[in-house]
Amino acid sequence: MHSTTPARVVVLLSGGGSTLAALLRAHAEPDSPFQIVAAIADVDAPGLDHARRAGVPTAVVRLRDHPDRAAWDAQLASTVGGFDPALVVLAGFMRLVGPAMLEAFGGRMINTHPALLPSFPGAHGVRDALAHGVKVTGASVIEVDAGVDTGRILAQRAVEVLDDDTEASLHERIKQIEQPMLVDVVRHLTSPTPPAEGDPL
Ligand code: GRF
Repeated sequence: MHSTTPARVVVLLSGGGSTLAALLRAHAEPDSPFQIVAAIADVDAPGLDHARRAGVPTAVVRLRDHPDRAAWDAQLASTVGGFDPALVVLAGFMRLVGPAMLEAFGGRMINTHPALLPSFPGAHGVRDALAHGVKVTGASVIEVDAGVDTGRILAQRAVEVLDDDTEASLHERIKQIEQPMLVDVVRHLTSPTPPAEGDPL
């Protein structure tokens, strides 16, 4: 018998949470292969309200409440692990995760980044692309590894840079292609593999 229980997904965020909101809309669709079981932030992120309104549990694990980064990382891994996720999604999470998170969730933790990696990694992907004068930028979904936006690229979509773009206008257009792309990747990673011919049901 193949289970049809939606895969458990935990989302980490730091900001306004429009990406989380897009994931929550997808999780609410009939036959979604995944469910968001928690939204966890490193600060009092306004985006957590999207989860609260959807009745999804939230938690905040603040760096400043811990003696050092290692203790914070361990607490984050334990809090995330408490929700037993099949997949962890970093959706505008503005801190690097550490060894405890990688040990617990490596290979099943993804991040979305508002630039075409390996160009413009780091916290200011949109600003850096604009400052460089590129004519095309975009968004990338990657696996999380120990580096800064260096993990395996799972999906990318491109966006044209307009002459009068500001960081805000460009980031807004990037988000419009970034969010459906991330939803597609999460759906793909959480979809049950169809049984191979001859498999017992
Ligand atoms: C996204 O573009 C993400 O790639 C970047 O920050 C944005 C998050 O936006 N790191 P929001 O908080 O989900 O609205």
